[in-house]
Amino acid sequence: MATDNLVPLTANPTAIHELAPYKTLENDELNARISAVREQLGDKLLILGHHYQQDEVIEQTDLRGDSYLLSENAAASKTCETIVFCGVHFMAETADILANRPEKLAERDGRRTTVILPDMAAGCSMADMAAIAQVEAAWADMAEVIDTERVIPVTYINSSAALKAFCGRHGGIVCTSSNAGAVLDWAFERGDRVFFFPDQHLGRNTALKMDITEEQMPVWDPYDLDLGGNTEEQLTASKVILWKGHCSVHQMFRAEHVHQFREQHPGIKILVHPECPREVNDLADVSGSTGKILKTVQESPAGSKWAIGTELHLVNRLKAEHPEQEIHFLSPVVCMCATMYRIDLPHLCWVLENLRDGAVVNKIEVDPETTKWSLIALERMLAVK
Ligand code: 13P
Ligand code: SF4
Repeated sequence: MATDNLVPLTANPTAIHELAPYKTLENDELNARISAVREQLGDKLLILGHHYQQDEVIEQTDLRGDSYLLSENAAASKTCETIVFCGVHFMAETADILANRPEKLAERDGRRTTVILPDMAAGCSMADMAAIAQVEAAWADMAEVIDTERVIPVTYINSSAALKAFCGRHGGIVCTSSNAGAVLDWAFERGDRVFFFPDQHLGRNTALKMDITEEQMPVWDPYDLDLGGNTEEQLTASKVILWKGHCSVHQMFRAEHVHQFREQHPGIKILVHPECPREVNDLADVSGSTGKILKTVQESPAGSKWAIGTELHLVNRLKAEHPEQEIHFLSPVVCMCATMYRIDLPHLCWVLENLRDGAVVNKIEVDPETTKWSLIALERMLAVK
């Protein structure tokens, strides 16, 4: 996990309760104890959950959403003193930055909102594919061939705060899967090219809709020290330089899965997340963020048939919540986000009971310099409509 922007943490130095006993408890007991802490802390506590969380965790959240919705809401409550983020590391970092921005601190007479990630190992494999040192090295290398003053760096929110800060410093911006198109428009109003990281698929799928061709989108491989594996001509002709990163979950969906479903289930519609590879995204009927996937199903009439290409927990929840529709998972193999899955009831109960008893464990706190520059890039994103 990329941790270069974090205040160093030792392993839970302040824990009052150890984690191990929580792992032996049944869900009924964990639920009862979690509910008791939630009741006791009331509106001082906000539990946020990303749509990919397992059901039992989702049931204990105050708000569930996609990355964009959760980042917008992280700082909405005035009474909240602690956010427990049931998601992955970059989401908790973003919550820390947004919940503690200067105007929010002023509203609370300087009191910081504490952000807790129930399991520090809940990272994002995609975010880990772009370390700040690699991005800085790539930026310096490409400057030998193209004018980086005219390149706008865009980082997907699925990235460490250090990358968001890089974008803040270099006139760039953050995007989520729900606003990537609008963010690329923003970038092209300010520069000639975009350097998009860490997800090549979201970058490519979004730019293709803007009539940018695959030939204008070279892929930068951070492990190829010769211009990221590109020629000078490719970089000079580029509109969007894509980082060679991907989501290990969404990368599993294939064009043949789409063809099989269409053959076997006439009338079925394909609904995918734009982190899927181009060949899947191009074939899909609808592509969008987890929030859009949810809304599309919610707004569809009974009898609709869907094959959905996104994380398994969300698809299974949609199946359970919409028995009036026929919902399938697009892949024959299990595609679940193993790091999201690390957040479970034992970890949630453990951090909450420690919190109730005065111990903050697994606190996520981004250092002030990284916060300052990431916030600039995040606020640019929040201003894009
Ligand atoms: P959303 O922006 O759709 O929430 O996606 C987050 C994510 O991690 C998808 O893999
Ligand atoms: Fe990261 Fe993929 Fe998991 Fe999303 S689904 S958090 S991009 S590994």
